[in-house]
Amino acid sequence: MSKTDKSAYMSETARNREPVMSTFTQDPESLGANVLSVALIGPEELGRRAIVTALSESQQAKITREFSSYPELDYVPRHLEEKYDIVIVELDSNPEYALDLVEHICSNTSLTLMVYSARADSELLVRCMRAGAREFLTTPITPTSMAEALVRASVRRPATVPPKKTTGKLLVFAGAKGGSGVTTIASNFAVALALESGSKTLLVDLDLPLGDAALDLGITSQFSTANAIQNINRLDSTFLTKLLTKHSSGLSVLPAPDKYTPIHATDEVIEKLLSVTRQDFDYVVVDAGCSIGSTYKALFEGAATVYLMVQVTISELRNANRLIAEFYRPGGPKLEIVLNRYTHRSLGIDDENITKALTMPPTWKIPSDYPAALRAQNTATPLALIDSPISKIIKQMARTACGLPAVPEKKKGFSLFG
Ligand SMILES: Nc1ncnc2c1ncn2[C@@H]1O[C@H](COP(=O)(O)OP(=O)(O)OP(=O)(O)O)[C@@H](O)[C@H]1O
Ligand SMILES: [Mg+2]
Repeated sequence: MSKTDKSAYMSETARNREPVMSTFTQDPESLGANVLSVALIGPEELGRRAIVTALSESQQAKITREFSSYPELDYVPRHLEEKYDIVIVELDSNPEYALDLVEHICSNTSLTLMVYSARADSELLVRCMRAGAREFLTTPITPTSMAEALVRASVRRPATVPPKKTTGKLLVFAGAKGGSGVTTIASNFAVALALESGSKTLLVDLDLPLGDAALDLGITSQFSTANAIQNINRLDSTFLTKLLTKHSSGLSVLPAPDKYTPIHATDEVIEKLLSVTRQDFDYVVVDAGCSIGSTYKALFEGAATVYLMVQVTISELRNANRLIAEFYRPGGPKLEIVLNRYTHRSLGIDDENITKALTMPPTWKIPSDYPAALRAQNTATPLALIDSPISKIIKQMARTACGLPAVPEKKKGFSLFG
């Protein structure tokens, strides 16, 4: 903000306590249900008047609030989101501050943001789009171009879009320790679930930054969870679809990035990502890796089932015990313990002691099958598609998750020769 803008702004805030309003045209609640409510931020008076005129010719939108100078960044998300559908920001008075404002609004709200400028500057346009603006209006703007921009905005408006179901079942795989088999079991479970349920199933690799579920499935992808997280403010079903890769089993996959990409994702970001995925998919399977930390709320609280992968070693049982004590609460998601590479009395620890250490009995026991795991890796074919003791259990897990009865074990045929 320039010094003059800032002092104008400061004096107005001092007067109004709420920032920088010149006109308070109409209460949003009094607007018709299909009329878009607009907040107009335009320090330059003439330009702002021109936008008001262009909008007033439209039946689609009403200016609910006018800002005669730029508000402070922090003011915007708190006060705008629940009241308005569209925010229109003038760029020319202070392009750098206006861009910061645009970016701040777009990363913290789901509002549709438009900008206007007298300069048809392609560099400025690109920067605005990167910051999250949906429309770049060049002034003087004709009522027709304004009307067209509003039509595009109304298509995005949540109230006019039929509410989507948010019922996709979230199934999260996490490990008690690195290498416990999360990726192997999660990715193959996802393949089995897609096949068994015949429903829309998605695998999301959230073992960031080094997840390798794509490798187990033999797929490569240009896009990853990193793209989804870095563009979380504009992530919607259309954007998500562009990031996904389809496996031959019908499973959709959002893999981890191919290159090392350090990403800090908060609980809110993961929650948004999962809620968008669950709008479009019946089942969302997550490889959460073994570092359950800051994002456990988003992962666990929305989950139908959390599968905790554990190998029978002292350190993994101890970790599992601590994780169960911390994260498994009554009323929370269903927790199923999966013992991987299980062999009876491995390390001399019997089933009774395993249950004691875990404070609950394991639900699934997956045997160790090194040849099958190796074959799957060497042929880039998911284990779930190879007949093996591991794939049998994974299939049962998948059928249980989608409410199908277990496949009965084939009875050995009677033979005179045994
Ligand atoms: N039941 C099993 N029998 C034989 N090998 C297995 C079994 N489960 C997993 N493996 C093998 O163990 C190795 C580690 O498994 P995986 O990558 O799935 O573990 P992870 O928990 O995802 O590890 P990370 O912490 O590195 O993400 C892989 O080579 C995999 O093929
Ligand atoms: Mg892994």
